[in-house]
Amino acid sequence: MIAMSLWTLGIESTAHTLSFGLVDSNGTPYPAFSDTVRPDKGGIHPREAADHHKDIANSLFTSLLEKYELSPHDISAVSYSQGPGLGPCLRVGAAIARGISSRLDVPLIGVNHCVAHIEIGRQQCGCSDPVLLYVSGGNTQVIAHHEGRYRVLGETLDIGIGNMLDKFARAQGIPFPGGPVIEKLAAEWLETQHNPSLEGLELPFAVRGMDLAFSGVMTAAQRLIDNGADLGSVCWSLQEHAFAACVEIAERALSHTGKKELLLGGGVACNTRLRTMCEQMAEERESTSHAPPRMYCIDNGTMIALLGFIELQEGRTTSYPESGIDQYLRTDQTQVTWAV
Ligand code: ATP
Ligand code: FE2
Repeated sequence: MIAMSLWTLGIESTAHTLSFGLVDSNGTPYPAFSDTVRPDKGGIHPREAADHHKDIANSLFTSLLEKYELSPHDISAVSYSQGPGLGPCLRVGAAIARGISSRLDVPLIGVNHCVAHIEIGRQQCGCSDPVLLYVSGGNTQVIAHHEGRYRVLGETLDIGIGNMLDKFARAQGIPFPGGPVIEKLAAEWLETQHNPSLEGLELPFAVRGMDLAFSGVMTAAQRLIDNGADLGSVCWSLQEHAFAACVEIAERALSHTGKKELLLGGGVACNTRLRTMCEQMAEERESTSHAPPRMYCIDNGTMIALLGFIELQEGRTTSYPESGIDQYLRTDQTQVTWAV
């Protein structure tokens, strides 16, 4: 039994994952309880994901309380992802949060999911003022703090890097999430190579100024497969090209801002090859690269609890009329009043 009774609960439901997490009265994070929809075929359907979240919510929340030997009355605040994300999924999380908050009569805090990825990373890695490379399914952004906001210095102009990997994987019959499988196939292929060409097969350049675009790379990778290329070598090349593009704009952001730390976040930040490429780039610039533990890279309720805790300390709560979701909430829309 953990002897403290002022816990902030965080509820994450932006897309494929429903997750409940906690931070204690010092803001210390505890691993979340999560469940992810894994469709047998096709992509994530927002309504089906929302139904999954509704069906699983009760048992997941109960498991969390049991694991930490808590009663609902130990919860002193409830935080949830207000956006961005899939409308039906976000609505389920918001409804659960409103329900728990009103039942327990504790504050409700709607938070920005993207900013939560950033704050858990800063907390876990001990970075002070990093450039952030936020690489997830739906988002790919390079971000830096400036005058009270996390500013987006560059981002994808079409699809998120994770969606690109998942879609390419799906076309090869690999179920969601495809990113980790592509990583495995690429690593296995590399092991078979006596003389690996680090560049791999030719694919289009994904950098557009300070922005990125991935759909051309994905189409070209599919064409290589259609023309008989080995799946492992295409996975390797796809990773190399897509990650090199991210690293390039992250490096430019470090150079423009003069910051010395790079921080990775989002599900694709689980990838070991991407982590290595970032570390190499940072080392060459006499900077450092950091990535939180994988359970805090993928969507998780703990990061939502942490940001809720931080915002509550700043005196911010969300009233019932303001508690609606915002599918298109942007990273730079949220005011950062806390110290960075
Ligand atoms: P956001 O709402 O922030 O865009 P998200 O809904 O995409 O988040 P995350 O859990 O942050 O959810 O990221 C999921 C993505 O991460 C999926 O596209 C998945 O394929 C990808 N991913 C997870 N692990 C790896 C890995 N090891 N290598 C590459 N991609 C990965
Ligand atoms: Fe996410």
